[in-house]
Amino acid sequence: MSFVIASAVVLTTAAAVYWYVNRHKPLKHILSELRYTLDMQGAGAGGLIDDWINVWRNRVVLPDASNKIAVITGGGRGIGTEVIRGLLKANMRVIMGIRKPEMAKKMAQTMQNGENLEAFKLDLKSLKSVKEFARNVLDKYSEINLLVNNAGVMFGDYELTEDGVESQLAVNHLGHFYLTHLLLPALKIGGRLDRLSRIVNVTSCAHYPGKIYFEDINMKEHYDTTAAYAQSKLAQVIQLNLLFSLYNKLVYTILMAFKINMT
Ligand SMILES: NC(=O)c1ccc[n+]([C@@H]2O[C@H](COP(=O)([O-])OP(=O)(O)OC[C@H]3O[C@@H](n4cnc5c(N)ncnc54)[C@H](OP(=O)(O)O)[C@@H]3O)[C@@H](O)[C@H]2O)c1
Repeated sequence: MSFVIASAVVLTTAAAVYWYVNRHKPLKHILSELRYTLDMQGAGAGGLIDDWINVWRNRVVLPDASNKIAVITGGGRGIGTEVIRGLLKANMRVIMGIRKPEMAKKMAQTMQNGENLEAFKLDLKSLKSVKEFARNVLDKYSEINLLVNNAGVMFGDYELTEDGVESQLAVNHLGHFYLTHLLLPALKIGGRLDRLSRIVNVTSCAHYPGKIYFEDINMKEHYDTTAAYAQSKLAQVIQLNLLFSLYNKLVYTILMAFKINMT
C-alpha cells in the first residue's frame, strides 16, 4: 500500500513540475510532448528487449567483396566507423561522405585495408553539397554496390537549413533521399541478378511513434525536437519502403533496398 502511495506522490509531483515548467505552452503541445517522451521510452525499451531476445542471431559474416564499391555517409565516428572497418575487412573500396574529409587519412592508418578508404566532402544540411558529393563519386565510379545512409543528428535545437528545411529532417532524411536519387543509376549498374546492389538506411526505433507533419513539415507551429527526430526517421523508413515496392516489382530486379532499425 505504501508503495502505491509513494508512486502516486512521485508521479503527481513529476506531473506538477512538468506542467509548471511548460505552463506557457498550450495543453495540446504539452500532451503531445509527453506522449512522444513516453512512446520513445517504450520504443527504446522494446528495442532493447528485442535485442536481448535475438542476440543469439547476431553474426558478423564478411564474405569477400573485392572490387565492390561502397558509399557511406558519416563514419568519422560512431556506428559508421565500425561499419567502415567491416567493409574494408571484406575488401570493399569505401567512399565516405564526411564534413571533414581530411579525417579519412588518419582513420585509414588505423584500419585493415585502409588504403581502400577515401573521402569526399559532404554536408547533408545542404542539397548543393549533396549534389557536389554525388558528382565527385560518379566522376570516379560508374558502378556502386552499396549505399549506407548512416549519418544522423538527434535532438538538436530548432534550425532551418540554407534550403529552408528543419535540420533533423534535412540531415537524416532529405539529404539522404536526394543522395540516393542521384546515385541510383550507378547502383542499378552495380547490381546483377546474382548480387544485388543494396541501400541501407540506418533508422531507429524512434520511427515507431513518429508521424509526418504534412501540414507543417518544418514544425514551425510547435517544435518538439523528439517529434522532429521521429519524423525524420519515419521518413527514412517510408523512403525505403517506396524504393522496395518500386524495384521489387520489376522482373529484372537489380536493386534491393532494406532498412536496419537500431535501438
Ligand atoms: N547511437 C545510437 O544509439 C543510435 C540509435 C538509433 C539510431 N541511430 C542512428 O545511427 C546513425 C549513426 O549514429 P551514431 O550513433 O553513430 O551517431 P554519431 O556518433 O553522432 O555520428 C553521427 C555521424 O553523422 C555525421 N553527420 C552529422 N551531421 C552531418 C551532416 N550535416 N553532414 C554529414 N555528416 C553528418 C557525423 O559527422 P561529423 O563527425 O562531421 O559530425 C558523424 O559521422 C544515425 O543515423 C542515428 O540516427 C543511432
